[in-house]
Amino acid sequence: MTLRIMAIDIQKIRGQFPTLVDASRRPYVFLDTAASSLTPRPVIEAMGRFYTDFRANVHRGMYTDSLRATEAYEAARSKVAGFIGAEAEEIVFTRGATESLNVAARGLAEGLGPGDEVVITIMEHHANLIPWQQLADRSGFTLRFLPLGEDFRLDMEAARQTIGPRTKVVAFMAVSNVLGTVNPTEELIALAKAQGAATVIDVAQAAGHLPLDVTSWDCDFLALSGHKMYGPTGIGILYGKRPRLEAMEPQTFGGDMILEVTKERSTWNRIPWKFEAGTPHIAGAIGLAAAIGFVEEIGIEEVVRAEERLAAHALERLQSVPGLRLYGPAGGVRGGALSFAVDDIHPHDMADLLSKQGICVRGGHHCAMPLMRELGIVGTTRASLGIYNTEQDIEDLIQAIHEAKRIFG
Ligand SMILES: Cc1ncc(COP(=O)(O)O)c(C=O)c1O
Repeated sequence: MTLRIMAIDIQKIRGQFPTLVDASRRPYVFLDTAASSLTPRPVIEAMGRFYTDFRANVHRGMYTDSLRATEAYEAARSKVAGFIGAEAEEIVFTRGATESLNVAARGLAEGLGPGDEVVITIMEHHANLIPWQQLADRSGFTLRFLPLGEDFRLDMEAARQTIGPRTKVVAFMAVSNVLGTVNPTEELIALAKAQGAATVIDVAQAAGHLPLDVTSWDCDFLALSGHKMYGPTGIGILYGKRPRLEAMEPQTFGGDMILEVTKERSTWNRIPWKFEAGTPHIAGAIGLAAAIGFVEEIGIEEVVRAEERLAAHALERLQSVPGLRLYGPAGGVRGGALSFAVDDIHPHDMADLLSKQGICVRGGHHCAMPLMRELGIVGTTRASLGIYNTEQDIEDLIQAIHEAKRIFG
């Protein structure tokens, strides 16, 4: 088992994740980070400190704990901003990538109608598909899909043909939660910008795994979830370029998002608060900032190197299993989602048999049913990697797949 990958001490990192060090859980091989990562102690402790030391609402009280809570909440916003190369005012806290994508889609769809086109990809998670479908039904614009090309990557020739003068929005995932494909973000943004189209990037599977920089990308919106990058559940962000957020109407109304309210009408707070109606997930924001601190302490470049190395090893080992079909790039730059099918074993049966051997993976359509249909399958079994995974985890997975094959014989 490789305990040190490059400069990273994986064993030390594993020690920070309570569920990994709890011996009563053995055997416990966690390979489901694409669904939700585990949470390290610094995140749990940061959230605990909010509840034990200064539990109060934000933006309201003049007493010490409330001021402290406000300070920690706004410091978390600045931390997220720094992490993605944005300004703090451009960070809206949400419940997660799903809510962020819905807000961005509703905002952008305001000005769209018949004759306009929104371009997404066939590999999108439902969170970046259904909002556009619903809005297309209501507003009359056309939803177009970029297809797959070689080796489960996007067909960029088709992208160049599809993104044209009618395109008003290009919305796509940076990394596929099913295929592990890393999409050519900069190239897609350039194609969109050449047509004056807005861009929405879903980085749910990229955050915490790859460097993100909205300034160099020059995208309009970006959505991420905390729980997929070692942070808490129920918190995420929507990044919006300042003029975009300023021009966008709020969609949820109530406390905190207003400037002045009369019996007849209301005016809105400045960005980003005009998009944060009601009491926010304060502990979640604090936990998300701690998760970013955790990733930054390891160093994102080190994370990339370690995960790339382990993914390459996992691909090699998986492809050595007779009867295993891989659904995703077989090499090159890719993310840590490893989707496969073995013989005729249904993905749910495979996930169940692996689970009985202590291996946590996901079986099913992974919220990407149009992609499954395109591939002509009902689903895949998906193992996905995080910073705590080792070559031993991969060996345990391979052994367990062989055992499942034996049982189905
Ligand atoms: C690529 C992608 N986008 C969006 C989402 C939705 O994230 P959440 O459920 O945290 O809102 C997911 C979750 O699996 C995802 O993988």
